Amino acid sequence: MCGIVGYIGRHQATPFLLEGLSKLEYRGYDSAGIAVYHDGKIDVEKCVGRLDALRQKLIGHEPVGTVGIGHTRWATHGKPSDINAHPHVDDTGMFAVVHNGIIENYMPLKQELVKKGHHFKSQTDTEVVPHLMAEYYNGDFEATVRKVLSIIKGSYSLVFLCAKEPDKIICAKKNNPLVIGLGKGENYIASDIPAIISKTRDTYILADGEMAIVMADSVRVTDLNGKPVDKKVFRVTWDAEAAEKGGFEHFMLKEIYEQPKCVRDTLRGRLSRENDEISLPELNWTPDFLKKLRKIFIVACGTAYHAGIVGKYYIEKMARIPVEVDIASEFRYRDPIIDDSCLCIVISQSGETSDTLEALKEAKRRGAATMAVTNVVGSSIAREADQVIYTYAGPEIAVASTKAYTTQLIIMLILSLYISKLLGKIEDKRLHDLIQGILRIPEQMHEILENVDPIKVFAANYASCEDAFFLGRSLDYAVALEGALKLKEISYIHAEAYAAGELKHGTLALIEEGVPVIVLATQPHVYDKTISNLQEVKSRGAIVIGIGMQGDKELAKHANSVITIPQADEELAPILAVIPLQLLAYYAALARGCDVDKPRNLAKSVTVE
Ligand code: AGP
Repeated sequence: MCGIVGYIGRHQATPFLLEGLSKLEYRGYDSAGIAVYHDGKIDVEKCVGRLDALRQKLIGHEPVGTVGIGHTRWATHGKPSDINAHPHVDDTGMFAVVHNGIIENYMPLKQELVKKGHHFKSQTDTEVVPHLMAEYYNGDFEATVRKVLSIIKGSYSLVFLCAKEPDKIICAKKNNPLVIGLGKGENYIASDIPAIISKTRDTYILADGEMAIVMADSVRVTDLNGKPVDKKVFRVTWDAEAAEKGGFEHFMLKEIYEQPKCVRDTLRGRLSRENDEISLPELNWTPDFLKKLRKIFIVACGTAYHAGIVGKYYIEKMARIPVEVDIASEFRYRDPIIDDSCLCIVISQSGETSDTLEALKEAKRRGAATMAVTNVVGSSIAREADQVIYTYAGPEIAVASTKAYTTQLIIMLILSLYISKLLGKIEDKRLHDLIQGILRIPEQMHEILENVDPIKVFAANYASCEDAFFLGRSLDYAVALEGALKLKEISYIHAEAYAAGELKHGTLALIEEGVPVIVLATQPHVYDKTISNLQEVKSRGAIVIGIGMQGDKELAKHANSVITIPQADEELAPILAVIPLQLLAYYAALARGCDVDKPRNLAKSVTVE
């Protein structure tokens, strides 16, 4: 996610651009820039760092002009740097472009443009766009935009400036948000409503496949073929703070609901419906390298550690390589038996968790090959690891990690399939079925998110409890761990996850009348045993909520209430089953009046040991 703004009208553009970007820093903030048209030229000012760094840079020479665009970056391709910051321009400076999204085919396009004499400065995918504009410009700005949009593949909110036609800004949308703010004698563009809400509440919300030609006194919306689109004005009724959360009450809820899009973005370019190829160009592993691995270590903290437990299951089941999962703060000090016959995978949303970073360094010191799974391009962990695979969840603002977790599971799943395919350990049909199942996950997530009432009821009924238990076997146990962490860290209810088969070895003593117990039962190979464990706690007075697959008739016979997830392969179940648990934690915390986004004692990124 990045922040995008545009202004065209009778006032100076720069003040609006900077003010608008400041309202969008929650969407991305590793670098920022603006481009303003003046007197035949486009003046581009940009730099790495927060928006304040750009403000400092502009002191004494703010770009002059009444037409401009701006951007705050959340890097996906190319580390945060001055040169990778947006806007990007072509060699002549005739075109300036800002972009939110991923251009999947940028590499072949870039190679072709270099052959034609274009000079690239950045490592970004975005930079191909202004060069394509320069390559195809035929004197008609609008037609050239259409031409370029027909060439690029991927997801985008794109906003274009052209020095030859400064009376308009053109923008286009596919899979990433773009809003036009309708003013009087001036108009605004933004990737999200908070940037324009102080100027106007009348907007056009662009839909996928639409583009807008925005002038000071008019806004014309068409499809990509130029056919006019009759847009209805959307009147924004939210207040500014609510607008930052997309109309949701908290960032956590917004991020829970962003998960279908984040999974799509993380899958984009890596899996395709057309074939069973798994594309991870970030990795240079060979079958020989993998065959020589004695062990894979997965090291992380908190939610990322829980994702690592699921990752262990995936890799061992699909690739048959031994995997050891460690809490980072433990790994560092237990003199681990790790050397150059091992691979160490670290998982970290922020890429800045000190325990995980130091564990990574320890693994490197001992000779292990290393790889990071992280959500932040250019983070300390991303820079330290030999190789990196990024989740594309966008900035995660709430302290409680949600969309990072599900996109981490997606990466661990793809990685396991990638390894098993390289080693010839997976049958074609099994691979095909799993890939088709993975591609269905976003729509299945939507299905869960559209049916939250049973979860709200359970949360309200048991929010006053001081203890709660989460039980599961196999992958359900891994998800139970994450569900317990979500509940305890934002509602302050003492929640404990337990391997269902282990309960009778002690913890069962804590089960008494009225204790809420969430039992996950999505794993067919241990289903009957799990039902027996459910009966154990039920017979001692527990109030049981079952989490099961749609169509499961058995679970409802034993649990007090059941929340179901869509039918999915058991390996894929964790990615879906965690969503009801995230929502349960959210609504329980709400019912208890807790600060959902900023729970007591906790920080979003723990950069101390
Ligand atoms: C999870 O909800 C917590 N916010 C916390 O456990 C977090 O997962 C942990 O601190 C690891 O953070 P990281 O993924 O940024 O390394």
